[in-house]
Amino acid sequence: MMNDEWVQGKIHHSSFIIHHFTNMENLLIAEENGIVIVTINRPQALNALNTGTFTDLKHCFGEHLAHRTDIKGVVITGAGEKSFVAGADISEFLQLDVAAAAQLSKRGQDIFLLIERFHRPVIAAVNGFALGGGCELAMACHLRIAGEKAKFGQPEVNLGILPGYGGSQRLIQLIGKTKAMELLLTADMIGAEEALRLGLVNHVVPVGEEVAKAKEIIEKIATKGPVAVQKTIAAVNAFFEVGGQAGFDFESNAFGDTAGTEDFKEGASAFLEKRKANFKGM
Ligand code: COA
Repeated sequence: MMNDEWVQGKIHHSSFIIHHFTNMENLLIAEENGIVIVTINRPQALNALNTGTFTDLKHCFGEHLAHRTDIKGVVITGAGEKSFVAGADISEFLQLDVAAAAQLSKRGQDIFLLIERFHRPVIAAVNGFALGGGCELAMACHLRIAGEKAKFGQPEVNLGILPGYGGSQRLIQLIGKTKAMELLLTADMIGAEEALRLGLVNHVVPVGEEVAKAKEIIEKIATKGPVAVQKTIAAVNAFFEVGGQAGFDFESNAFGDTAGTEDFKEGASAFLEKRKANFKGM
């Protein structure tokens, strides 16, 4: 959505905290005491990332918040009690050809990079399913807080594709090749405690306390030197970015290749028709 279509306002509370909000079509953006809470708001599709949601994320991190040096940090969470983000929106997949799919993947990677390179800490408050693009979104954040019932996974091979928004690269960065390979190949979902054990998340908290824990950590970081914090984020990212682009490029091309297969059409159709996919290897 364009800038002038955003709904903006201020809510004054008796506690003297001023809440600003800027709502986009697919995002709710609230600001409380210098902390921005971005809520992916498509609960009817378990907050699946459609093209419009990516556009809103791009405007949010690339424009709306891009120059806000006055904020302490950002929390990303999902609307509703069931899901953080249940992946890319599979209903948009059926029209994709090889070139369009590679482009979709590259665009998603670039938008998640805005989050990974953001100048203030960005924390995922994972309140439910973080699957596919949802796990990839959480992994692009600097830290991850999981509610006790959160579930993580990269189920793309169930659909006959692979992760397209950096998941095949960041999962290895975060948990190492051994478990990353297993999760990517089996599409297994793991719970919050296993995600903690593997180093995929920083903390597990009771359901409903994910955002509060993320805010507590941002408040702590806000007491440190802001320039040092910004440079630390950049330094940690630099470890992975130097020479690391080839894997991301490989991923978006491979995403395009798999999207050109009959199996992918079958996998996406099977999901939408709520049946088991019948893959043929072509
Ligand atoms: N894209 C589009 N729609 C999605 C979606 C996605 N990634 N994930 C869920 N939805 C939709 C479902 O189609 C359903 O819509 P409907 O009510 O119109 O039928 C609604 O969200 C609720 O999902 P449902 O599958 O009925 O909930 P569930 O509790 O039975 O299962 C999940 C939850 C997360 C296990 C299941 O929705 C799922 O496997 N989602 C896809 C995960 C995935 O493969 N992500 C990677 C995509 S690349």
